[in-house]
Amino acid sequence: MCGIVGAVAQRDVLPILLEGLKRLEYRGYDSAGLAILDRDGKLQRTRVLGKVAELSAATAAEPPVGGTGIAHTRWATHGRPSVDNAHPHVCREQIALVHNGIIENHESMRETLRGEGYEFGSQTDTEVVVNRVHAHRASGRDLLAAVSATVAELDGAYAIGVIDTDEPDRLVAARRGSPLVVGVGIGEHFIASDVFALLPVTRQFIYLEDGDIVDIQRDRLTIYDHTGQVVERPVMTSELAADAVDKAGYRHYMLKEIFSQPVAVADTLTGRIEHGQVLDTAFGMAASDIFSRIEHVHIVACGTSYHAGLVASYWIEALAGLTCRVEIASEYRYRAHVVPENTLFVALSQSGETADTLAALSLARALEYSACLAICNNPESSLTRESDLVFLTRAGPEIGVASTKAFTTQLVALLLLTIALGRRNRIDSELERRLVAELETLPGHINTALQLNDAIGQVAEEFSHKHHALYLGRGTMLPVAMEGALKLKEISYIHAEAYAAGELKHGPLALVDEDMPVIAVAPNNSLLEKLKSNLQEVRARGGVLYLFADSSAGVPAEDAVRVLNLARVPETIAPIVYTIPLQLFAYHIAVIKGADVDQPRNLAKSVTVE
Ligand code: AGP
Repeated sequence: MCGIVGAVAQRDVLPILLEGLKRLEYRGYDSAGLAILDRDGKLQRTRVLGKVAELSAATAAEPPVGGTGIAHTRWATHGRPSVDNAHPHVCREQIALVHNGIIENHESMRETLRGEGYEFGSQTDTEVVVNRVHAHRASGRDLLAAVSATVAELDGAYAIGVIDTDEPDRLVAARRGSPLVVGVGIGEHFIASDVFALLPVTRQFIYLEDGDIVDIQRDRLTIYDHTGQVVERPVMTSELAADAVDKAGYRHYMLKEIFSQPVAVADTLTGRIEHGQVLDTAFGMAASDIFSRIEHVHIVACGTSYHAGLVASYWIEALAGLTCRVEIASEYRYRAHVVPENTLFVALSQSGETADTLAALSLARALEYSACLAICNNPESSLTRESDLVFLTRAGPEIGVASTKAFTTQLVALLLLTIALGRRNRIDSELERRLVAELETLPGHINTALQLNDAIGQVAEEFSHKHHALYLGRGTMLPVAMEGALKLKEISYIHAEAYAAGELKHGPLALVDEDMPVIAVAPNNSLLEKLKSNLQEVRARGGVLYLFADSSAGVPAEDAVRVLNLARVPETIAPIVYTIPLQLFAYHIAVIKGADVDQPRNLAKSVTVE
């Protein structure tokens, strides 16, 4: 989604803005731009269709020099990707504005503004905002008052940064529903969509709350809450190293993140288990008390996080003996609910900023849940701030748009949750000790699975010219297959669908021929023989099989059957381990196809608009 950077400083801010945008590239975007108030008090704006490197090149010949500026990477919502639609938007060479979010009442505002003589040069919803700020300025308000009056008129979600040629040492920013942080410097201050953008210039951050407006000048900053009262927000020190977002020698962030999973999983377990037991406090101080009453679990999430929730539903019902429902957040938020007594609501999100998941959480808070638990990889996200209980996965920053280590650490969190909830029901201390011991072996099992990298690279070579694929799994391996299909789709642009293997002959078998490869995940569990029968059905129709199987599964490689053998893994943790080869498979195919692995077309890392 769109990325925002802004600065008010004594020094020239162009390099800060460009570096900030570069660090926000992972969010996904199609165009980029910046506007700087130069030393003559004029707005210098540059916009490009394409990458930040092109913006950098476009400013290289005559770099704009000035201490106040805003910059933006745009992920198109209203209006196609184009230079005209790229931000910053400017009104009458005076006001420049960047925006992340969606203004829902932009059409009626545009009509009113047209009536007042304002012209529009873009198809965006954003341009009404800059024109409206200008209209309020023209009526005598200063920039702060003009922005306050404007945001009061907006329906929808926004994070904005605004500068004005008539108030050159000032940047006014506001947020509602879209993320925005303030970077606190010495004699200089910044704004950005997330902390990564500003790590080279500061470690001190203020996380704005919904409805906040911040008036930023070089030597002071003042925050107003949604009622217009001056408020103090805590200044937090980021622990992230400035190089936390580099590729560490890997060709892509995604590959680095796949290979960092043993460490990410170990970090997520650290301090959460002791003497063979899960510590309830990992979920918050009130967790013990709340968990002792829980009889049902509702999990809500999007995309990959939804797949993690699906795996957990098998664990929660089979191991903990509690009923569990899992739902996509964009569906959950728009329907009526029956919430049984003693139900725990779990919102699952890597970023903690996914608009649909946040809206689902806000709906859940108004319903009769016992408590809302956030499982999240971002400690300072809206999701963690708005939940009663929080479990932080410790995957570290995930930059590749395709989620990898966030997924496996979410699964670790959900297995810990299963144990903590099940302890009051079906999980006795012996079973708890066994499950905890299995969790502790996970980094080793993942390392072993990663050793398949080269073999998977070779198999990917012959697969890469395919246009479609079916993924099959049974039990917990069905959501793993769904996740594998999602990875392939999003980074290699090969159409892939996952099916419960038993569903094959209820329809999708009609698609199977030599051009429709079938990928199956086959650990040696109680469902293996049934899965093998399904695979025979594929072979009998001339289908080509790619099998990620336990080495003892007894599926021989033959002409149209490629088998990649995994070491024996305990059944409960198998979904986590079997995810690894599917990530590598999608990665290698995308690389062979020359796709933009870390920033696949049309996608954004953190989906902050509906
Ligand atoms: C996964 O590879 C995708 N990037 C996407 O499905 C993602 O998992 C989804 O948008 C949810 O994001 P979240 O976990 O940050 O809420």
